[in-house]
Amino acid sequence: SDKSPIDVPSPPPPSMTLTQDELKRIAAYKAVDFVQSNMVLGLGTGSTAKHAVDRIGELLRQGKLENIVGIPTSKKTQEQALSLNIPLSDLDAHPVIDLSIDGADEVDPCLNLVKGRGGSLLREKMIEGASKKFVVIVDESKMVKHIGGSKMALPVETVPFCWKFTAERLRRVMEGYGCEAKLRLGEKGKAFVTDNGNYIVDMYLEKDMGDLNAVSDEILRLPGVVEHGMFLDMASTVIIAGELGVKIKNK
Ligand code: 5RP
Repeated sequence: SDKSPIDVPSPPPPSMTLTQDELKRIAAYKAVDFVQSNMVLGLGTGSTAKHAVDRIGELLRQGKLENIVGIPTSKKTQEQALSLNIPLSDLDAHPVIDLSIDGADEVDPCLNLVKGRGGSLLREKMIEGASKKFVVIVDESKMVKHIGGSKMALPVETVPFCWKFTAERLRRVMEGYGCEAKLRLGEKGKAFVTDNGNYIVDMYLEKDMGDLNAVSDEILRLPGVVEHGMFLDMASTVIIAGELGVKIKNK
């Protein structure tokens, strides 16, 4: 498959520096160009996806899009979409989604992703995995050589029951990569609870993972693990907004 970037030149004037949030908005608006009337859309979660949902709401309000059904990947996105009058449904009613648009925490050169630092990885993976097309929107800071490297954590959603036991099993599975497993904390120092009532264990790795599929299988085999944040071979397209313009990478 062709992974070479197609450059869409849109450089800002030399004197102007764009903020990270402006870059996120540029990527999001570009992705919404793929949206057509009558589509079932997976609506992502996070500060980048929020711009895409805003834009879809705006186009619906202006009558430039019609008959859209949104499938939100989190309660937060559901609230945002409802406030914009985007009609919503779920995977039970719409098991096949035309297009999903979502952000990512890391993207590697093969378009493998780490997601879930916002905590919505399970619903995101279910919905984006059921999509005919999955468009990922990022600013250029999210591009990495290897996902799950030392910079940030790989999130794993676990059941709350004896989470320490599960975190220790996870740590042992990942020991070869210099792993530290930490429970994600939310408000008032209490465990962060996902939309599904679960916890997140963040895996901080010192070394790059080798065979991502093998690591994925090992993690998913552990009882107590619900899902992890590696999205392997799922993205169809990644839209990367940078200071010098927008790049679109296709699988
Ligand atoms: C939430 C996610 C987000 O897409 C990811 O964390 C990127 O977030 P942001 O767009 O705010 O940088 O996976 O679970």
